[in-house]
Amino acid sequence: MEDERFITSTKNMEDEDVENTLRPTTMEEYVGQDKIKNSLNIYIKAAKKRGEALDHVLLYGPPGLGKTTLSHIIANELGSSLKITSGPAIEKVADLASILTNLNKNDVLFIDEIHRLSRAVEEVLYPAMEDYALDFILGKGPSARTMRLKLQPFTLIGATTKAGMLTGPLRDRFGVVCRLELYNKEELSKIIKRSAKILNIKIDDEACLELALRSRGTPRIANRFLKRVRDYAEIKGEGIITLQLCKEALEMLEVDELGLDYTDRKLLLTIIDKFHGGPVGLDTLSAATGEESNTIEDVYEPYLLQLGFIARTPRGRIALPNAYKHLNKKISESRQKYIDMFVSKEDEQE
Ligand SMILES: Nc1ncnc2c1ncn2[C@@H]1O[C@H](COP(=O)(O)OP(=O)(O)OP(=O)(O)O)[C@@H](O)[C@H]1O
Ligand SMILES: [Mg+2]
Repeated sequence: MEDERFITSTKNMEDEDVENTLRPTTMEEYVGQDKIKNSLNIYIKAAKKRGEALDHVLLYGPPGLGKTTLSHIIANELGSSLKITSGPAIEKVADLASILTNLNKNDVLFIDEIHRLSRAVEEVLYPAMEDYALDFILGKGPSARTMRLKLQPFTLIGATTKAGMLTGPLRDRFGVVCRLELYNKEELSKIIKRSAKILNIKIDDEACLELALRSRGTPRIANRFLKRVRDYAEIKGEGIITLQLCKEALEMLEVDELGLDYTDRKLLLTIIDKFHGGPVGLDTLSAATGEESNTIEDVYEPYLLQLGFIARTPRGRIALPNAYKHLNKKISESRQKYIDMFVSKEDEQE
């Protein structure tokens, strides 16, 4: 179901094609994430200078922020070849062993959804990451021996939307850990302009900014909006996307000025109306709205948190005054006091 929804930042089939054409291929073209880019540029240069493999890199953050894109770019800038696989695709230890033994010197291995590796597979990865070695057990019982097979030096890039689900030992073996942030409106505007150019779409600066404001900090959503608005403009307009057309098209998609869609509003209204503003636990919220907890956590919450519409407390999610305001809901005095108390407590803790 989730894939059919328009706003979701997880990938659908249509994205797949267009993403390949829109995906930047160099650090230079990759918009935003400056801190990450700066440090990666240095590590990449240093590794190249020494002729060594780049340290293992962990990329984490919500869907659609550019993890896969960045891993392609890293391999590109290293001048190495990239092998792509994913946590769920590596079912057996033997699968991983064959991937690893087939790597050439300084290759990059990209494992998407790395939090979904099985325990047994993960354990094989430890010595591979640490010593570029594979440990085998030969024979059974008392005569069993371990054998060590040397691997070519390589770089592992792991990507995940759930860094919290990685085991400590795996996480510790990444030398470079990068958390991707939501993009600001200037960055998103730049991404939209670039995509429009590639796709041969004419768009006003104002319209560009409007799309950026509604893209929830996520390049994948920005690109998707651009395509939908183009469709609308082709039928209703004169070939150029104007601010007015842009607003109309997004209204038709039930996306409001902040980029919130029907589901966001449903989540907020559930917290406010059904649970008197919270706190409400993730699972309860999931049951009350019919949305999967995973989706709430990965797709919806990051943006609502960033807007300051909700907060996470040890007892669950609460709605904040900004959310009441946006939804034209009145906030009672006692509720306001409750939130103030919570917020000031939070400050003290920091
Ligand atoms: N920094 C960026 N600059 C320009 N375009 C970007 C950037 N980041 C992402 N994009 C665009 O957004 C699309 C989605 O990015 P990508 O597939 O890399 O996300 P992801 O983080 O791997 O998502 P998922 O968690 O779903 O795998 C890309 O095809 C690309 O067009
Ligand atoms: Mg990806």
